[in-house]
Amino acid sequence: MSYDVDRLRADFPALDQEVNGKALAYLDNAASTQKPQAVLDALSQIYERDYSNIHRGVHQLSVRATTAYEEARSAVKRFLGAADEREIVFVRGATEAINLVAQTWGRANIEAGDEILITAMEHHSNIVPWQLLCASLGATLQVVDVDERGQLDMDDLYAKLGPATKLLSMVHVSNALGTINPVTEIVKSARERGIATLLDGAQATPHGPVDVQALGCDFYVFSGHKVYGPTGIGVLYGRLPILEAMPPWQGGGDMIETVSFEETTYAAPPARFEAGTPHIAGAIGLGAACDYLSAIGLDAIAAHEHELLVYGTEVLEAIEGLRLIGTAEQKAGVLSFVMEGIHPHDIGTILDFAGVAVRTGHHCAQPLMKRFGVSATTRASFGLYNTRDEIDRLGDGLRKVVEMFR
Ligand code: ALA
Repeated sequence: MSYDVDRLRADFPALDQEVNGKALAYLDNAASTQKPQAVLDALSQIYERDYSNIHRGVHQLSVRATTAYEEARSAVKRFLGAADEREIVFVRGATEAINLVAQTWGRANIEAGDEILITAMEHHSNIVPWQLLCASLGATLQVVDVDERGQLDMDDLYAKLGPATKLLSMVHVSNALGTINPVTEIVKSARERGIATLLDGAQATPHGPVDVQALGCDFYVFSGHKVYGPTGIGVLYGRLPILEAMPPWQGGGDMIETVSFEETTYAAPPARFEAGTPHIAGAIGLGAACDYLSAIGLDAIAAHEHELLVYGTEVLEAIEGLRLIGTAEQKAGVLSFVMEGIHPHDIGTILDFAGVAVRTGHHCAQPLMKRFGVSATTRASFGLYNTRDEIDRLGDGLRKVVEMFR
């Protein structure tokens, strides 16, 4: 079946509105995505009919809510190609997942003198948790360089995967540049050296198929709100033997086996890492989002967004004084750029008047901005529902920016 973008757009009520008197062109999908009716319906259903706390009651509503929550875990397992539901831990988002690994696996496995390797294109959420850990343990953070196009310097990476490296934690797809990193090859090399691996898939999961078993990584993290699901929910995938060996993180209800004042024993994963009442509806909404994307087909979404990327690159390269930041050979649908003498916030505001939503700023990647000698960029990022017509409107808006600042 061919990709019918108009039919898909009809699934997203938020797209059908005017902003500043113009039809909304939503090109800020790397920051967060709009929600399809299937996700909104799943949220309504749980709150209108099936809501109760989970894992705690024998009454019908608790049974229904528990079943829906655990079915969502199965949906995420299928979405990631994981081997077992127990490898899927619900957390608040990719940021919380990385902090969880740092504070549990990290504290149990990293010692003074060890190294943690990240890359120069990480989001702050894959920098700061490791800085905090290194500072408290006396370990060192190493950083792989990126080249002028925004691609990893592979020689530098292999040089830094040294005997002291205990963990490689890196982004699968860069939020600020769109670069798709060759993670299969990199994870394989790390594993051959006995180095643990964590992949930040926050920008990879919405844009193409992910198979954690084929990737071979130890941990994979992503956020619900970037895969057309709710905010406040995300996933930590961990290989089962690794999760089983990890100490608990937060203490509380549902993560224990038995509690006494003398001694507490802990539940097996994933419950060990889900203390307290979780975001029940969020998990259910995320499960619906995963099923929605899988029904469209992640390969089809990737192909559609690639076509938009190619077209968008042509349109932007024709704009006077515009410089693309991030021109990697392998890219997802992200176009970050600067315009000579014009502040990104001015560009974003003028585009907003034209109904075109983009993000401006440092994209939570300040070291990367510094690497490219800029403090901020304007970023258009594509999702499964975007069209060439919206890219034409972005181009029209940018030509207007040029005229206004001439
Ligand atoms: N990390 C998100 C972005 O790239 C918020 O915009």
